[in-house]
Amino acid sequence: MIKKYVFGTPLETGAVTADVAPEKNTPEEVGIVDKTDCVAFVKELEDDDRIYGLGENIRGINKRGWIYESYATDDGIHSETLKSIYGVHNFIIIDCKKPFGIFVDAPFKVTFDLGYTYMDKAIITPQGRDFNLYIINGNSLSDIVRNFRKAIGKSYLAPFWSFGYIQSRWGYKSADECRQVVKEFRDNGVPIDGLCLDLDYMDSCKVFTTNEKDFPNFEGFVKEMSDSNVHLVPIIDAAVKAEKGYCISDEGVENNYFCKDENDNDYVGCVWPGHTYFPDYLNPDAGKWFASKYKYYTDMGIDGFWNDMNEPAIFFSKKSLDALKNDICENKERDFGANDYFALRHRVNFLWDYKEIYHNVNGKKIRHDKVHNMYGYMMTKSASQGLEEIAPDRRFLLFSRSSYIGMHRYAGIWTGDNQAWWSHLLLSLKQLPSLNMCGFLYIGSDIGGFNSNTTEDLSLRWHALSVFVPLMRNHNGSDRPQEWFRFIHKDWFRDLIKSRYRLLPFIYSEYLKAVHNDDMMFRPLRFVYENDSLAAEIEDQLMIGDSVMIAPVYTQNAKGRFVYLPEEMLMVKMYGDEIETEEYEKGRHYIEVPYNCVLFFIKKGALIPLYDCAMSTKELNKNKISVLCFSDEGSAEYEMYSDDGITKSSKVKKLEILVENKFAYCNSNDIEVTVLADYLNTLF
Ligand code: GLC
Repeated sequence: MIKKYVFGTPLETGAVTADVAPEKNTPEEVGIVDKTDCVAFVKELEDDDRIYGLGENIRGINKRGWIYESYATDDGIHSETLKSIYGVHNFIIIDCKKPFGIFVDAPFKVTFDLGYTYMDKAIITPQGRDFNLYIINGNSLSDIVRNFRKAIGKSYLAPFWSFGYIQSRWGYKSADECRQVVKEFRDNGVPIDGLCLDLDYMDSCKVFTTNEKDFPNFEGFVKEMSDSNVHLVPIIDAAVKAEKGYCISDEGVENNYFCKDENDNDYVGCVWPGHTYFPDYLNPDAGKWFASKYKYYTDMGIDGFWNDMNEPAIFFSKKSLDALKNDICENKERDFGANDYFALRHRVNFLWDYKEIYHNVNGKKIRHDKVHNMYGYMMTKSASQGLEEIAPDRRFLLFSRSSYIGMHRYAGIWTGDNQAWWSHLLLSLKQLPSLNMCGFLYIGSDIGGFNSNTTEDLSLRWHALSVFVPLMRNHNGSDRPQEWFRFIHKDWFRDLIKSRYRLLPFIYSEYLKAVHNDDMMFRPLRFVYENDSLAAEIEDQLMIGDSVMIAPVYTQNAKGRFVYLPEEMLMVKMYGDEIETEEYEKGRHYIEVPYNCVLFFIKKGALIPLYDCAMSTKELNKNKISVLCFSDEGSAEYEMYSDDGITKSSKVKKLEILVENKFAYCNSNDIEVTVLADYLNTLF
């Protein structure tokens, strides 16, 4: 099912965990063009062929028609022409007569020209000669994904509490401000489970410190929040402030844990704290050392982290900036023309070069650009291993900005600095199945948009989609604060967030199924309805598991939207505690969707489990489930996965929930299941 082809002498990235013996021949699925510095793989495309995958990348679920460069990049403008993003996910499926998957396991830049230069050709070019190529076959598109996922190992298992609502903002300047935010939730009956702490909780952006002035008695603050069922989630930036006397900086210098420049001096760049060193996460000793520092927070009761700026993001390098300053002084008297101006502007935008940085990989000095895509992955892998040493069986929340396939075993990701744009709401939907194909299951985008000012309606619609997304986090850094309580219709936001908590047994179960069965939680319609040519073109609806379809509104001022139903389904409109249902025939329908409504559809014969809402995941009564079903001649069923949500070793329970003749049954005596009373009569 999976074939491996070795080119040159690759550096092992650890992305693939299965033991696959290399083939002796070259792959027959793609043509090979041998160039001077690299080889390229070519697949001729028929008009109807589609291409899926590439994880976090922008544009469609069908990736055909654009050129992508896999090279981890911190670029906050995810416009339609962006080629590289934070995460590097080199897996694609070519959906042609005999579909197959390709995974290019290369830590350096790889170009995926998917019908860009020639509309009828996919050309994949790793920019180096040392890499592994895998071809993955299967009986269906979903089967190809499962075969790939089996080869790359089980996805990260997040704790149950991290499926609760998480509030964040780059701008909470003090513990008191954080307390006030949490108070708004509690006073208004809006559930919350987590609060992210951005740069200000640290002393001058120095990792593994706290800002004692504005966050005094940090440990007490963590406890106080935890007592009210709120987990604090601090940001951990990849780079370390270069400062004598700051122990992390001193220890790193002393032990040669930082990346070097070409002369073997510690490389100095600039990120949020000012001048910084970059821990050499590719050196296992350095990674281990950095990860051991997370204990500083776990000892205070912290159990969640977000790793940031780990592409690595660099604003400028000292060397490049010094050179620029010199050049400007030398050219002081010269008259600048338009071309000089643009050249200068370009230089100012790119005041660093990854080729200036060096790693120590098993004693070998390797230039950064040759292993660039592994930096964030290795930071997060080390962090996960460090946390495992601290508490071997405990599930921590851990998500990262940069990633590479392989990192999906250690953590989740968020999709970085999106914009408060309607197009990014739709993009965030399209990223879900593509990321699932690559193993990333605990995922989410910044709800409302990170950059630029959001609007109330955009924020409402984004929440409505995110009700189904594992990481449901409202985060931004723009001028306009965007917590739900900043807006007029607080009750509408409350309905949406409450719907999330009600749907948690279903959402968490679908997540667990995807983890344990190496499956996708979010599936393009094409993957489920393989013989339906209309379904193949739908890019704004998704299946969740086997039984539910979602179709969010993503257009401003729209009162609703057209939805394509590939078969007869039950439409559900959920408004927190209230639910409306209606049966719809297969076909295209216009459906009105009020702002406080979570819209979804249930397939015939299926049911979904619901909890009663609570103010945090801890307060949910997990022994009481009501079901919402679309009965097929009086019966409906669902297999619900659950576990303790806390430990890694927790056994998965697979509960059969069955509805027959208006009565619900479950094969566990601990759980009371009932059919949602109000709908009993309408459903049978
Ligand atoms: C980066 C992160 C963003 C964070 C900011 C400040 O832009 O992507 O989420 O808020 O840095 O730490």
